[in-house]
Amino acid sequence: MKILMVCLGNICRSPLAEGIMQQLVGQNGLDWQIDSAGTGDWHVGEGPDRRSVRTALNHGMDISTQVCRQFTRHDFNAFDLILVMDKYNRSDVLAMAPDEQSSAKVKLLLGDKEVPDPYFDESEFETVFEMIEQGCKDIIKQLSGSV
Ligand code: 4NP
Repeated sequence: MKILMVCLGNICRSPLAEGIMQQLVGQNGLDWQIDSAGTGDWHVGEGPDRRSVRTALNHGMDISTQVCRQFTRHDFNAFDLILVMDKYNRSDVLAMAPDEQSSAKVKLLLGDKEVPDPYFDESEFETVFEMIEQGCKDIIKQLSGSV
């Protein structure tokens, strides 16, 4: 299973989602590949936002070596599942989908809920971490039956 986590900037939410999912996948002995990307290009080449790095570290996880990249059409072929954080991400990604098969790969990480953008609110990062962690556990449960 190849999963791509997508948000707007690829510096706050999707790097956390990549790190959390990678850790859970390892803990569950799953041979899945996890990556992340942003729909926007403002932060391409940068590391994750320091507040996401700090929040991850508080949970014993180092995401500091990740590098921001922008989502591309090629990702529809490269991944089995594209998990977006909010409905804006979903419409941006769906607008690039070349066919129905590609569109069908795009889902909100939390099913019917959104992961709020914490960029302008420092106090949101811990909540966002916990929401993403629960979403990742639910996805693993759905796809593998474990967790
Ligand atoms: P993210 O948060 O989508 O969770 O990475 C944001 C990061 C940067 C910006 C917006 C949201 N920005 O406008 O630069």
